[in-house]
Amino acid sequence: MQGDKGMHTVPLGDTGEQVSAMCLGAMYFGSRNDEESSYLLLEQYVGAGGSFIDTANVYAHWAGPGWQGGESEALLGRWMKDRGNRDWLFIASKVGFDMPGVERGLTASQIEAECDKSLKRLGTDTIDLYYAHVDDRYTPLEETLEAYARLVQAGKVRYIGASNYLAWRLEQARAISRAHGWPEFCCIQQRYTYLRPKPGASFDPQVAVNDDLLDFCDARRDDITLLAYSVLLSGAYTRHDRPISDQYAGPDTDARLAVLRAVAAEVGVTPNQVVLAWMLHSDPVVIPLIAASRPEHLQENLDALDVTLSADQMARLDFASG
Ligand SMILES: NC(=O)c1ccc[n+]([C@@H]2O[C@H](COP(=O)([O-])OP(=O)(O)OC[C@H]3O[C@@H](n4cnc5c(N)ncnc54)[C@H](OP(=O)(O)O)[C@@H]3O)[C@@H](O)[C@H]2O)c1
Repeated sequence: MQGDKGMHTVPLGDTGEQVSAMCLGAMYFGSRNDEESSYLLLEQYVGAGGSFIDTANVYAHWAGPGWQGGESEALLGRWMKDRGNRDWLFIASKVGFDMPGVERGLTASQIEAECDKSLKRLGTDTIDLYYAHVDDRYTPLEETLEAYARLVQAGKVRYIGASNYLAWRLEQARAISRAHGWPEFCCIQQRYTYLRPKPGASFDPQVAVNDDLLDFCDARRDDITLLAYSVLLSGAYTRHDRPISDQYAGPDTDARLAVLRAVAAEVGVTPNQVVLAWMLHSDPVVIPLIAASRPEHLQENLDALDVTLSADQMARLDFASG
């Protein structure tokens, strides 16, 4: 089932597991993206050698009237059954956000009940990577982490990850797990793109990467992998119908956009591809989540795997605003 092109792989934290350098975001599969187009996009990604797919229990109840959440997992379950490819894939899902009939939170009972529902929708015995989708400051971390440990012990989950956590909470969680001999969060999935939010910008309840988290991931490079979501800002780098949101407005963004466009022109690729390539080339490595509803967009994003940026171009991108 794997494509013959072969996407390169990168380590996932300290798990010893290698995962595809680009992860496919399946958020709108089965809702905004209908069955047929979702299957095509999945096959296009797998055909490019990718095997790492990202979903969540809540995807995507907000997509429109009639959606309840669970549509993305259910579509993946049908597709994997049809194609018989479950064993080739590395499936990530998440729990913690609210959806119709489910409150936001990471209590033991929420985690355990939602995991069983996700397993059923996915039609699998094991979720490869199970995230805490958003930090829950009202439930003791011990309760959350012990519940995750029980899922790993039961074989329902292989590895655990965090999403939308601040660096200090992530380290606190890992220290608690370590003290109890429980599995530790092996990765952090955060909002991250080439543009930097202006000081004080909020994406609540989403949490954007900040210098603190980047420093943490650098220091813990052998233990924790950073995964990035909303990398292409819904297409805003290249689409006039998708303005760059106000949270990014300011001189830093102006300087970064100018360098981004200059580098894209030099290399002969699109700004989206430079953003993705910049992430793929970063040290420590960052795994971008790519998502699209049109095959030509997905292809553009996949083709960023072949884009090479020189050390000088990387430095200009990194230090665009001086
Ligand atoms: N952990 C979290 O809290 C969290 C939050 C958000 C997302 N995620 C994950 O991250 C994945 C990606 O998130 P996202 O959708 O916010 O990512 P994004 O990269 O900001 O946006 C993807 C959208 O951008 C447009 N696009 C993609 N490639 C393009 C291209 N080459 N040219 C022009 N437009 C392009 C498409 O819009 P159209 O489809 O409208 O054409 C596509 O659906 C999700 O599927 C989900 O798995 C996680």
